[in-house]
Amino acid sequence: MQSTGQSRRFINPAAPHLWHGGDYNPEQWERGDWELDMDLMDQAQVNVATVGVFSWASIEPAEGRYEWGWLDEALDLLASRGKRAILATPSAAMPAWLSKKHPEILRTGPDGVRRRHGERVNFCWSHPEYLDRCRTMSTLLAERYGEHPALVMWHVSNEYGGACHCERCERRFREWLQRKFDGNLDRLNRAYWTRFWSHRFTEWDQIEIPGGPYGETSMPGLSLDWRRFVTWQVVEFFLNESRPLREHAPGVPVATNMMGTYPGIDYWKLAEHVDVAAWDSYPCFVDRPIGVSDWHKVALQHDLNRSFHPDRPFLLIECSPDSSNWYPVMQLKRPGLHSMEGLLAVAHGSDGVLYFQWRQSRGGIEKFHGAVITHDGRSDTRVFREVASLGASLRSLEGVAGTTVESDCALVYDWENGWAIELAGGPHSERMDYGQTCVAHYGALARLGASIDVVEQGCDFDRYRLIVAPMLYLLKPGVADRLERFVFEGGTLVCTYWTGIVDENDLLLPGPRPGPLAKVLGIRAEETDGLHEGASVRVRFNQVGCSLEGRVVNAHILCDLIQLEGAEQLAAYEGEFYARTPAVTAHRYGQGRAYYVGARLEQHGIDAIVAHAAAEADIRRSLGTLLPEGVIARKRLGGDREYLFVLNLLDSSIEVPVVESGWRDVANDSEWVARLTVPGYGVAVAMRPIDVRGQGDRAGRGGLEVVNR
Ligand code: GLA
Ligand code: ZN
Repeated sequence: MQSTGQSRRFINPAAPHLWHGGDYNPEQWERGDWELDMDLMDQAQVNVATVGVFSWASIEPAEGRYEWGWLDEALDLLASRGKRAILATPSAAMPAWLSKKHPEILRTGPDGVRRRHGERVNFCWSHPEYLDRCRTMSTLLAERYGEHPALVMWHVSNEYGGACHCERCERRFREWLQRKFDGNLDRLNRAYWTRFWSHRFTEWDQIEIPGGPYGETSMPGLSLDWRRFVTWQVVEFFLNESRPLREHAPGVPVATNMMGTYPGIDYWKLAEHVDVAAWDSYPCFVDRPIGVSDWHKVALQHDLNRSFHPDRPFLLIECSPDSSNWYPVMQLKRPGLHSMEGLLAVAHGSDGVLYFQWRQSRGGIEKFHGAVITHDGRSDTRVFREVASLGASLRSLEGVAGTTVESDCALVYDWENGWAIELAGGPHSERMDYGQTCVAHYGALARLGASIDVVEQGCDFDRYRLIVAPMLYLLKPGVADRLERFVFEGGTLVCTYWTGIVDENDLLLPGPRPGPLAKVLGIRAEETDGLHEGASVRVRFNQVGCSLEGRVVNAHILCDLIQLEGAEQLAAYEGEFYARTPAVTAHRYGQGRAYYVGARLEQHGIDAIVAHAAAEADIRRSLGTLLPEGVIARKRLGGDREYLFVLNLLDSSIEVPVVESGWRDVANDSEWVARLTVPGYGVAVAMRPIDVRGQGDRAGRGGLEVVNR
């Protein structure tokens, strides 16, 4: 990706606008209908189509017999109609002739049973034959279409996921372990603490793939390494099929569609190898209508994708124009919600909104999944109008493309840490909820109107003023030192219970909890009390003169028993045998301050502490003032201007105060003054030249009222 203009950086400078479109499968439809698709795309202001996902059987219907004609025509047609193409490699679904000829390519489940043909992403990650064929397919695609005028990006495979448990993958796992431990089995035995239960290995080939239902589940270090290995395999698979694309079509950016916080792959590792971070967002609300914290979860994933490459836009590469058929309940998207969902992505740094899919399939398991063109093939439908309306908005926001987001605070979201928490064996088997805890803390920052980077623990903390690191149970080497230096030099750090406990092999760190972070946090967390579902302990903020003084919050699920070792107590428990002992602490360390939230608090408690820390760190707020509940406000900037997005996540209208001057509404060019009314699911966007941007948008201590609900 190259930058164009002052500081704008486009996904592809050849298509320097916001992309609107999505998965298009012309091979499912009669050639005679394709022109109609183009006309309808014009109507919906669709400018890009993803072609070729799952198309292996149409490209190579029999071994060595290639049918390029339809794909040539589809790409030519898109180009002739002024549209761009994202071309996929078809590896996510192998054709039946291939699995018939080489059944051993098919994936083996955790039960050791090889799967039959069908489904998708149903291949062994290590099979040389499949790796070869994928490489060949990529080479052919890149040679044929690498310079096609429609091509703007590669879409490699589709939603990589799952693991293979075949003997080949098991052998490869052992080789990976041998490399990790330099061929030294003693080191592995020590790292996994195998003297426990007599689990010591004396030969490498005694090591098996761990995990249920029949494998080893009592050695968290081994299970962690298995997950790391699976990520490594996926990255290798990706590199294998993307290398020919880069070789034969240099300059065309490469992406793969990731799945937000999908637990099976450490996307920090995969994202290093893509040019554009792209993800599929299908917020699923199983038993209730969508709420504010659900949107915070979506927003966290947008920020995560942007943070993979903070200097460039990411792409919302799939979402549903309506409901998704695999939801337990297919609630239709309420009027206006679709535009709000799409612009939420743009506000967080996406340079487009793409769908699965353009035309609803007539058959197959996703025939009822939402699509732009529904089964009746018409454009005078509610869904089409919603999509076209978003298309028009994206067109009017053209100048947003290539701009970036600046954040002075970061939330740590780390896959390996999440895995380790899940595998640890305590202290609350059902409710450790690492992901949900991150969303709760992210929500506290979002309610302030902060721009938030979502980072892993290896990131450069010094770029930020505030770091929020919920449940940092697993500490990788050097991280504690870097956090300590960050605070010493003036940063503000918020940590919680269940922090600083193990190293990267899930071995207890020396010294009391929170291990090497004890010094900067100024506390010792002696024990953690697990609370039964429904039980709670009151926590009262009792530090005289502190802006949080007098606040009372309930703690549940986990409560640390804390000794002060330099920190001051901000709040104390009011119940249980640990009444009157510290529940929340703060420690001045060098120029900065480190907070320890010893218990899982209700959301308003998390909001209050994070707001307090944010005010201290003086973080910028997009609106420069309090955000009413249900509003997200974010800025993008680049070139000579900045954009302010104000989104209403709720279905009724909200009044938003406007304190800064100079903002002109993008839709009608009027200036925003005093108050802005944003209708239910509405989005208001304003713009101003960048030199107007003052420092008035720093939070200041007055911002604390935001959480006084
Ligand atoms: C995923 C896949 C698509 C489609 C959609 C909708 O995002 O990538 O192929 O299956 O889900 O279910
Ligand atoms: Zn395998």
